[in-house]
Parts: sequence; C-alpha cells; structure tokens
Amino acid sequence: MTVTLDCRICGGTLHEFFDFGRQPLADAFVTPGDASEEFFHRLAVAMCASCTMVQLLEDVPRERMFRTDYPYLSSGSTAMQEHFRATARYFLDRELRDPGDLVVEFGSNDGIMLDTVARAGRRHLGVEPCAGVAQAAAAKGIRVRNAFFEESTAADVAATEGPAKVIYAANTFSHISYVDSVFRGVDALLAPDGVFVFEDPYMADIIERTSFDQIYDEHFYFFTVRSVQAMAAHYGFELVDVEHLPVHGGEIRYTVARPGARTPSPAVARYLELEKVGRITERSTLDRFASNIESLRATLRGLLERCRDEGRSVVGYGATAKSATLTNYCGIGPDLVSFIADSTPAKQGTLSPGSHIPVRSPEAFADPYPDYALLFAWNHAEEIMRKESRFRDRGGRWILYVPEVRVL
Ligand code: SAH
Ligand code: TYD
Ligand code: ZN
Repeated sequence: MTVTLDCRICGGTLHEFFDFGRQPLADAFVTPGDASEEFFHRLAVAMCASCTMVQLLEDVPRERMFRTDYPYLSSGSTAMQEHFRATARYFLDRELRDPGDLVVEFGSNDGIMLDTVARAGRRHLGVEPCAGVAQAAAAKGIRVRNAFFEESTAADVAATEGPAKVIYAANTFSHISYVDSVFRGVDALLAPDGVFVFEDPYMADIIERTSFDQIYDEHFYFFTVRSVQAMAAHYGFELVDVEHLPVHGGEIRYTVARPGARTPSPAVARYLELEKVGRITERSTLDRFASNIESLRATLRGLLERCRDEGRSVVGYGATAKSATLTNYCGIGPDLVSFIADSTPAKQGTLSPGSHIPVRSPEAFADPYPDYALLFAWNHAEEIMRKESRFRDRGGRWILYVPEVRVL
C-alpha cells in the first residue's frame, strides 16, 4: 500500500477534504463462513493545490482489487449495452475509416463495447487483467489480452499489432494510480493522428449530487476538465474534446491527442469556463461537499431507523461497489437493510463488503415485496424501476439518496 502525500501527477501539495476511515474493498464480496479476514484500507480524498486533480491518499495494490474472480459485469445493464453500442458505432464511423485501423480498449471487461467492433469484423484488442471477465469476452469472439495496461503491455501490443488509431477506456483510466506508465504506453501505441478516449465519473456532478458513494478503492482519481487538461499536458498530450455523458450519474468523455494533431473543440474552453464559474476546484466547494456528505448520512440513517422502528421492511437493490462506501460510512447493516437484490450471479449468496448484508437474486425481491427498496444502483434507476414496476403497483416505495434523500 502506498500512502500519497504529494500529488501523484505533478508532485504538488495535497489538501485532504474527506476521510471515510477504514473501508473494505468495494468489490470484495464475502463468502459466508469464510474465516479469512477482510482487507481494509484508509479511504481519504484530497485535491492537488497545483494541478487540481482529486485523488485518493492511499493506493491499494492492483492485484487485490482486480482479481480472477472480479465480480463486476459490464453487460448487466441494457442501458449500458446501448451506450457502448453507440460508442462503438461512433468510433467505426468517425475514427476507424481505414479497414486496417486498430482499436485497443483497456478495461474491456466482458466485451460490452468491443462486441460491436468484432461483429463489424474490424481490428480490435481488449486488455483486461481479470481473467473471469476476459474469458467472458473471449467467449463472444472478442480478442483479449489478459494483462494490466501499462507501458510494457502497450509496447508489446504495438510491436505485435502495430499502432492503434483509437485507444479507449471506460470507467477504467480513473481506476489507475500509475498514469505515468499508462501515458508512456499510449505514446508507444497510439498512431500519430490517433486518439486516446476515456470516460469517467465527473467530479462536478459528484459534488452537485453529493454522490460520494463514487468514492471507493477502485476510483483513484476524480477528473475535471481542468485537471485532465493539466494531466494530458504534463505527459506530453493535448486535451482536444470533452463530451458530457448522462451515464453512471454524469461522466465526461475526454479525447486526448498528440499536440497539434487535432483542432481542439470549443467544448473544452466551454467546460473550463463552467468549472471556473461553478468554483469546482476551490477548497470552499470541497468543504461544502464534505458537509453535504455528513448531512446525507444523518438524513438517510434517520429514515432507515424510522422504518425499522415502525416495523417496515427495507431491502437494498443493486449490490454496487458504490454501496460499500455508503453502507460502511453510514453504518447501514442487515439490521436496517435485510438483504440486497442483485442480478450478478457471482454476487448472489455472498455478503456485502464490510457491512455484511446478504446478497440475493432479484427473484427474492418479489418474494414477498418489501415495504421499501433502497436503490443502491441509483445510476440505473430508470431501467430498474421499469423492470420492477410491479413493486410500486403493489404499494412498495423506492428510497433514493442521489441527488438527495427522497421516497418515491
Ligand atoms: N469498461 C467497462 C468496465 C469498467 S470496470 C465498463 O465501463 O463497464 C473497470 C475494469 O478495468 C475492470 O474490468 C478492471 O479489471 C479493469 N482494469 C483495472 N486496471 C486495469 C489496467 N491497468 N488495464 C486494463 N484494465 C484494467
Ligand atoms: P453499477 O452501478 O453499474 O456499478 P458499481 O458496482 O461500479 O457501482 O452496478 C450495478 C449493480 O446493480 C450490478 O451489481 C448489477 C446490478 N443490477 C441489477 O441487479 N439489476 C439491474 O437491472 C441492473 C441494471 C443492475
Ligand atoms: Zn497535481
């Protein structure tokens, strides 16, 4: 474990703005009866006074987080399947013009994006360290290398495959503390006119919605347009485009290129201005975010305790990684939420990390329906509420906590 005191990118001074204390690994679901001890780490976040990058203070060894049995499956949401199909079509139409052009995706998981590229018969390669999800992608006919993307992997891919026109990463680049090695890898692999495109949760949306549950071990950096522009420049690249996406509660898709290779889009300057006006990277804003986190905890706990005291049943929906921070920080255990319904086979029959709430199948949710359902997978609210419409028809109520605590 590495404890960071200076910015991982520019070496500037870090200002800590929130400490969640000791937290478990958010995707380390516990097998009941397993005597081996859970791994805890200190989860605290800080902002760099120089380059403004928001980052964790402690870096969990990557092999502990991204294991063979990593349970997260990207294809568990139909809305996300549609999002990644559209992403693939965008690359096929806009970037991969020549039939020989190559797209490399790191963090390709079960192949949710590359599936469309492979079906179109185009050159692609996934780089994914978790063997289980990598195999799921390979079973769909997708080419995958079971490795961590970093300088050596990228150099090896460049030597065997040639340059990549597109290097892509969704919800992965912000998971990687060692960005220096990744950028050297991008430099080794990217074609002269190629683009490195990545999309990750947007810090401005996290602040605005108090979605502090986005903060957990795997999310090492929290990007803004300003901090990504500074990071790209630091490693010899240029931020040339940004696009705000509605997925996962608000993300930005960043397009980075070699300096001068592309004309920067006006969206970059527009977002820099929006961030300035919104004071996103000011310490006072982060202090307000911190006090909003504390109030959210008090409000949500108060509501759940009232439900319990009145004898109402409450079940969680979606055993998300995010819910690890929420339940452990708010002190929500099986006394307040009796179980969590989740569609992921590998999570069913386990206990949630740290808070030890049993995870069961979505069928258990209807057997019988509870009085209240706490929607941990709030980023999939539309899809889940549609799928579970009978719950409300039968008098059930959803509890949401993003952007504020409310009962629907
Ligand atoms: N892109 C998918 C998966 C996101 S989950 C989506 O958006 O749904 C993050 C993924 O990144 C995991 O599958 C994890 O194994 C992978 N990952 C973590 N570090 C990585 C690295 N250095 N190189 C490649 N993949 C990595
Ligand atoms: P998600 O919010 O995508 O990510 P993270 O774990 O990074 O916070 O996780 C969604 C979880 O919700 C995942 O475990 C699958 C589950 N889920 C359902 O059970 N049913 C559904 O209809 C959907 C969309 C997700
Ligand atoms: Zn910095």
